[in-house]
Amino acid sequence: RGRLVIAVDGPAASGKGTLARRLAAHYGLPYLDTGLLYRMVAKAVLDAGHDIQDADAAAAIVASFDEAAFPEDSLRGREIGEAASVVAAMPAVRSGLIARQRRFAGQAGGAVLDGRDIGTVICPEARAKLFVTATPEVRAARRHRELTARGEPATFEGILADIRRRDARDSGRSDAPLKLAEDAVLLDTSALTIEEAAAAAIGIVDARR
Ligand code: C5P
Repeated sequence: RGRLVIAVDGPAASGKGTLARRLAAHYGLPYLDTGLLYRMVAKAVLDAGHDIQDADAAAAIVASFDEAAFPEDSLRGREIGEAASVVAAMPAVRSGLIARQRRFAGQAGGAVLDGRDIGTVICPEARAKLFVTATPEVRAARRHRELTARGEPATFEGILADIRRRDARDSGRSDAPLKLAEDAVLLDTSALTIEEAAAAAIGIVDARR
Protein backbone atom coordinates (compact mmCIF):
# COMPACT_ATOMS: atom_id res chain seq x y z
CA ARG A 1 0.00 0.00 0.00
CA GLY A 2 0.99 3.64 0.27
CA ARG A 3 2.48 5.59 -2.59
CA LEU A 4 1.92 4.21 -6.05
CA VAL A 5 4.57 5.25 -8.55
CA ILE A 6 4.08 3.76 -12.00
CA ALA A 7 6.90 3.85 -14.57
CA VAL A 8 5.91 3.45 -18.21
CA ASP A 9 8.78 3.19 -20.68
CA GLY A 10 9.02 2.25 -24.32
CA PRO A 11 9.98 3.41 -27.81
CA ALA A 12 8.35 6.17 -29.85
CA ALA A 13 4.68 5.61 -30.74
CA SER A 14 4.45 2.36 -28.78
CA GLY A 15 1.23 3.50 -27.11
CA LYS A 16 2.94 4.25 -23.80
CA GLY A 17 1.51 7.77 -23.55
CA THR A 18 -2.05 6.61 -24.09
CA LEU A 19 -1.60 3.82 -21.55
CA ALA A 20 0.10 6.06 -19.00
CA ARG A 21 -2.82 8.52 -19.27
CA ARG A 22 -5.31 5.68 -18.80
CA LEU A 23 -3.44 4.42 -15.75
CA ALA A 24 -3.32 7.90 -14.24
CA ALA A 25 -7.07 8.30 -14.69
CA HIS A 26 -7.79 4.80 -13.33
CA TYR A 27 -5.73 5.23 -10.15
CA GLY A 28 -6.40 8.96 -9.72
CA LEU A 29 -2.71 9.89 -10.02
CA PRO A 30 -0.95 12.88 -11.60
CA TYR A 31 0.72 12.14 -14.93
CA LEU A 32 3.96 13.43 -16.45
CA ASP A 33 4.92 12.88 -20.08
CA THR A 34 8.70 13.23 -19.71
CA GLY A 35 9.22 13.24 -23.49
CA LEU A 36 7.72 16.74 -23.44
CA LEU A 37 10.64 17.97 -21.32
CA TYR A 38 13.16 16.83 -23.94
CA ARG A 39 10.93 18.30 -26.65
CA MET A 40 10.88 21.67 -24.80
CA VAL A 41 14.66 21.74 -24.57
CA ALA A 42 14.96 20.91 -28.27
CA LYS A 43 12.45 23.58 -29.24
CA ALA A 44 14.15 26.19 -27.08
CA VAL A 45 17.53 25.37 -28.66
CA LEU A 46 16.09 25.72 -32.17
CA ASP A 47 14.01 28.83 -31.34
CA ALA A 48 17.16 30.54 -30.03
CA GLY A 49 18.83 29.88 -33.38
CA HIS A 50 21.38 27.33 -32.14
CA ASP A 51 22.44 24.20 -33.95
CA ILE A 52 20.62 21.18 -32.48
CA GLN A 53 24.01 19.51 -31.90
CA ASP A 54 25.20 22.43 -29.74
CA ALA A 55 25.54 20.75 -26.33
CA ASP A 56 26.67 23.93 -24.54
CA ALA A 57 23.59 25.82 -25.71
CA ALA A 58 21.34 22.91 -24.67
CA ALA A 59 23.00 22.69 -21.25
CA ALA A 60 22.43 26.42 -20.65
CA ILE A 61 18.79 26.14 -21.69
CA VAL A 62 18.05 23.12 -19.53
CA ALA A 63 19.18 25.05 -16.46
CA SER A 64 16.69 27.84 -16.98
CA PHE A 65 13.77 26.98 -19.26
CA ASP A 66 10.18 27.69 -18.29
CA GLU A 67 7.82 24.77 -18.86
CA ALA A 68 4.83 27.09 -19.05
CA ALA A 69 6.29 28.82 -22.12
CA PHE A 70 5.57 25.88 -24.43
CA PRO A 71 2.03 25.07 -25.53
CA GLU A 72 1.87 21.27 -25.93
CA ASP A 73 0.70 21.55 -29.50
CA SER A 74 3.93 23.29 -30.48
CA LEU A 75 5.92 20.29 -29.23
CA ARG A 76 4.14 17.36 -30.86
CA GLY A 77 5.49 17.75 -34.40
CA ARG A 78 7.75 15.32 -36.18
CA GLU A 79 10.74 17.65 -36.42
CA ILE A 80 10.70 18.40 -32.68
CA GLY A 81 10.53 14.68 -31.84
CA GLU A 82 13.60 14.09 -33.93
CA ALA A 83 15.42 17.08 -32.39
CA ALA A 84 14.41 15.89 -28.89
CA SER A 85 16.17 12.58 -29.41
CA VAL A 86 19.36 14.49 -30.31
CA VAL A 87 19.39 16.62 -27.14
CA ALA A 88 18.28 13.60 -25.08
CA ALA A 89 21.61 11.91 -25.83
CA MET A 90 23.50 14.79 -24.12
CA PRO A 91 24.45 13.92 -20.52
CA ALA A 92 24.09 17.55 -19.33
CA VAL A 93 20.53 17.65 -20.66
CA ARG A 94 19.57 14.36 -19.01
CA SER A 95 21.10 15.24 -15.64
CA GLY A 96 19.53 18.71 -15.77
CA LEU A 97 16.06 17.18 -16.06
CA ILE A 98 16.37 14.57 -13.30
CA ALA A 99 15.33 16.76 -10.35
CA ARG A 100 12.09 17.96 -12.02
CA GLN A 101 11.08 14.41 -12.78
CA ARG A 102 11.90 13.06 -9.32
CA ARG A 103 10.04 15.95 -7.68
CA PHE A 104 6.97 15.04 -9.73
CA ALA A 105 7.29 11.36 -8.83
CA GLY A 106 7.65 12.28 -5.17
CA GLN A 107 4.11 13.66 -4.78
CA ALA A 108 2.23 12.33 -1.78
CA GLY A 109 -0.07 9.81 -3.43
CA GLY A 110 2.37 8.79 -6.13
CA ALA A 111 2.39 9.48 -9.87
CA VAL A 112 2.55 8.01 -13.35
CA LEU A 113 5.56 8.97 -15.51
CA ASP A 114 6.24 7.86 -19.05
CA GLY A 115 9.47 8.04 -21.03
CA ARG A 116 12.54 5.95 -21.84
CA ASP A 117 14.42 5.69 -18.54
CA ILE A 118 11.78 6.05 -15.83
CA GLY A 119 12.07 2.50 -14.48
CA THR A 120 15.84 2.32 -14.94
CA VAL A 121 17.12 5.77 -13.89
CA ILE A 122 14.46 8.25 -12.72
CA CYS A 123 12.35 6.01 -10.49
CA PRO A 124 14.20 2.73 -9.94
CA GLU A 125 12.02 2.23 -6.84
CA ALA A 126 8.71 2.52 -8.74
CA ARG A 127 6.12 0.05 -7.50
CA ALA A 128 5.07 -0.97 -11.00
CA LYS A 129 7.12 -0.80 -14.20
CA LEU A 130 5.74 -1.37 -17.66
CA PHE A 131 7.78 -1.57 -20.84
CA VAL A 132 5.40 -0.94 -23.73
CA THR A 133 6.40 -2.00 -27.24
CA ALA A 134 4.94 -2.69 -30.66
CA THR A 135 6.55 -3.55 -33.98
CA PRO A 136 8.10 -0.63 -35.89
CA GLU A 137 5.46 -1.05 -38.62
CA VAL A 138 2.56 -0.84 -36.17
CA ARG A 139 4.11 2.19 -34.49
CA ALA A 140 4.70 3.89 -37.84
CA ALA A 141 1.07 3.30 -38.84
CA ARG A 142 -0.15 4.83 -35.56
CA ARG A 143 2.14 7.84 -35.86
CA HIS A 144 1.09 8.27 -39.50
CA ARG A 145 -2.56 8.49 -38.44
CA GLU A 146 -1.68 10.92 -35.66
CA LEU A 147 0.32 13.26 -37.91
CA THR A 148 -2.26 13.10 -40.68
CA ALA A 149 -4.92 14.08 -38.14
CA ARG A 150 -2.74 17.06 -37.13
CA GLY A 151 -2.56 18.06 -40.79
CA GLU A 152 1.17 17.29 -41.02
CA PRO A 153 2.00 15.76 -44.38
CA ALA A 154 4.01 12.53 -44.01
CA THR A 155 4.37 9.20 -45.76
CA PHE A 156 4.26 5.86 -43.96
CA GLU A 157 7.73 4.99 -45.31
CA GLY A 158 9.19 8.28 -44.12
CA ILE A 159 7.75 7.81 -40.64
CA LEU A 160 8.98 4.22 -40.47
CA ALA A 161 12.48 5.47 -41.28
CA ASP A 162 12.15 8.17 -38.55
CA ILE A 163 11.07 5.56 -36.03
CA ARG A 164 13.95 3.24 -36.82
CA ARG A 165 16.44 6.11 -36.56
CA ARG A 166 14.97 7.26 -33.24
CA ASP A 167 14.97 3.71 -31.85
CA ALA A 168 18.63 3.34 -32.77
CA ARG A 169 19.52 6.69 -31.18
CA ASP A 170 17.48 6.09 -28.00
CA SER A 171 18.71 2.51 -27.52
CA GLY A 172 22.29 3.13 -28.61
CA ARG A 173 23.22 6.18 -26.50
CA SER A 174 25.54 5.58 -23.56
CA ASP A 175 23.65 7.71 -21.01
CA ALA A 176 20.35 6.12 -19.89
CA PRO A 177 19.62 4.13 -23.06
CA LEU A 178 16.14 2.78 -23.69
CA LYS A 179 16.12 -0.71 -22.21
CA LEU A 180 13.90 -3.06 -20.26
CA ALA A 181 14.37 -2.66 -16.48
CA GLU A 182 14.99 -6.01 -14.79
CA ASP A 183 11.74 -5.82 -12.88
CA ALA A 184 9.62 -4.32 -15.69
CA VAL A 185 6.77 -6.19 -17.33
CA LEU A 186 6.83 -6.23 -21.12
CA LEU A 187 3.55 -5.29 -22.81
CA ASP A 188 3.49 -5.71 -26.60
CA THR A 189 0.56 -3.71 -27.95
CA SER A 190 1.02 -4.67 -31.64
CA ALA A 191 -2.10 -6.82 -31.80
CA LEU A 192 -4.12 -5.10 -29.05
CA THR A 193 -6.81 -2.45 -29.19
CA ILE A 194 -6.43 0.49 -26.80
CA GLU A 195 -9.08 -1.05 -24.53
CA GLU A 196 -7.29 -4.41 -24.46
CA ALA A 197 -3.93 -2.80 -23.81
CA ALA A 198 -5.39 -0.62 -21.02
CA ALA A 199 -6.96 -3.65 -19.34
CA ALA A 200 -3.64 -5.50 -19.54
CA ALA A 201 -1.75 -2.52 -18.10
CA ILE A 202 -4.19 -2.23 -15.17
CA GLY A 203 -3.81 -5.97 -14.55
CA ILE A 204 -0.02 -5.59 -14.40
CA VAL A 205 -0.22 -2.69 -11.94
CA ASP A 206 -2.86 -4.37 -9.75
CA ALA A 207 -0.58 -7.39 -9.41
CA ARG A 208 2.09 -5.12 -7.88
CA ARG A 209 -0.11 -3.22 -5.42
O1 C5P B 1 8.30 10.15 -25.98
P1 C5P B 1 8.64 11.20 -26.98
O2 C5P B 1 8.61 10.73 -28.40
O3 C5P B 1 7.84 12.45 -26.80
O4 C5P B 1 10.14 11.61 -26.65
C1 C5P B 1 10.92 12.42 -27.50
C2 C5P B 1 12.39 12.03 -27.34
O5 C5P B 1 12.82 12.39 -26.04
C3 C5P B 1 12.67 10.53 -27.44
O6 C5P B 1 12.96 10.09 -28.76
C4 C5P B 1 13.87 10.34 -26.54
O7 C5P B 1 15.07 10.55 -27.25
C5 C5P B 1 13.74 11.44 -25.53
N1 C5P B 1 13.31 10.95 -24.21
C6 C5P B 1 14.26 10.41 -23.38
N2 C5P B 1 13.93 10.04 -22.11
C7 C5P B 1 12.67 10.17 -21.67
C8 C5P B 1 11.66 10.67 -22.52
C9 C5P B 1 12.01 11.06 -23.81
O8 C5P B 1 15.42 10.28 -23.77
N3 C5P B 1 12.39 9.81 -20.40
